[in-house]
Amino acid sequence: MNPKERKEDLYDREEELRSISEALNLRERLIIVYGIRRIGKTSLMRVSLGDYPHVLLDMRKLYFSENTVTMPLLVKYILEGFREQMKASEKLYLGLRDAISRIKGLRIGEIGIEIEPNAKVSLTDVLSRVNDWCEERGERFVFAFDEAQYLRFSNIRYDGIIAWAVDNLENLSFLLSGSEIGVLRDFLRIDEPGAPLFGRYRREVYVDRFTEEESFDFLHRGFRELGVEPKVDEIEDTLKTLDGIVGWLTLYGYMRAVRKLPHEDALAKVFEEGSKLVMEELDKVISPSRKRYLAIMKAVAHGSSSWSDIKAYVTARTGPIPDSRLDELLGNLIKYGYLEKNDEYRIPDPIVKRAVISS
Ligand SMILES: Nc1ncnc2c1ncn2[C@@H]1O[C@H](COP(=O)(O)OP(=O)(O)OP(=O)(O)O)[C@@H](O)[C@H]1O
Ligand SMILES: [Mg+2]
Repeated sequence: MNPKERKEDLYDREEELRSISEALNLRERLIIVYGIRRIGKTSLMRVSLGDYPHVLLDMRKLYFSENTVTMPLLVKYILEGFREQMKASEKLYLGLRDAISRIKGLRIGEIGIEIEPNAKVSLTDVLSRVNDWCEERGERFVFAFDEAQYLRFSNIRYDGIIAWAVDNLENLSFLLSGSEIGVLRDFLRIDEPGAPLFGRYRREVYVDRFTEEESFDFLHRGFRELGVEPKVDEIEDTLKTLDGIVGWLTLYGYMRAVRKLPHEDALAKVFEEGSKLVMEELDKVISPSRKRYLAIMKAVAHGSSSWSDIKAYVTARTGPIPDSRLDELLGNLIKYGYLEKNDEYRIPDPIVKRAVISS
């Protein structure tokens, strides 16, 4: 149920792995992984980072535990990440630790690198020092920030710091990911002329849902690995309801083949647990205008896929809404990945769709 770490546990993603490892081998400095929730971004990052010296930090976790991402907190988190590295390679960690501990305000304490009380340690110093350490050893170090859009909750412009590091520190790579794709792009301001990261070369990797064939094969093989004979009609039914979102397929597989629930119960369990999860997440996003946001989501969930249909639905439910306001709310839902728009609006995640209908 956790993000995968080993290549042999990761189903497919060959192309994405190849792209990331090519980028790292070419010493590219900025790699961005996009994909909706539960599509397998963290797994892809972990497996990609395998042999590289790296820290992988979950910015969502950091934000939710502290409510803001201050510089001392981020530095502390990075230092703890270095300690994690020790498990993989003690020698590497000791070298890094020495390099880092020369920064003013840091010292080697009993539990690793510690920040002296009231010391102002800057992220740029830490990055520079790691870069120098790499230079001496001919290494490359990857700073991986999972759900990097949460770095926007800070009085520090981290996009500027990342841009500076990308420009100046040639031995570092940044691997960023985000499930709120539009929010991440906004935060990085990569489409904004004049912003620090605008026009910088970057490798972009999109993690997509599995095709029907892949999803089928994924479940089929998973069941086989667990010594359970898969039933074709059950798997087909599952794919119809859960689509190719690997996180939901994994949860179903767990309920069906590990917990041994009957098929219907396993699916029901995915909906029950999944709905709780997605509604908690969605509520955070829509709280500033909950009624209208929910009406929009319900409209799309019930099949209104054009702008005017959505407007009619929302107006009937919550009263008149100015066009510009509707555009703004729709735009936000797209940014956060709750809606997609090609020619028509749609909800990319079937569990979100179900949860919205029954909310
Ligand atoms: N390629 C894969 N093969 C097998 N299992 C996978 C694969 N990708 C993801 N999973 C499983 O799916 C679930 C979700 O994966 P993961 O946490 O990596 O996705 P994510 O996109 O980072 O999700 P979130 O948006 O919640 O952070 C996990 O249980 C993970 O083990
Ligand atoms: Mg993740």
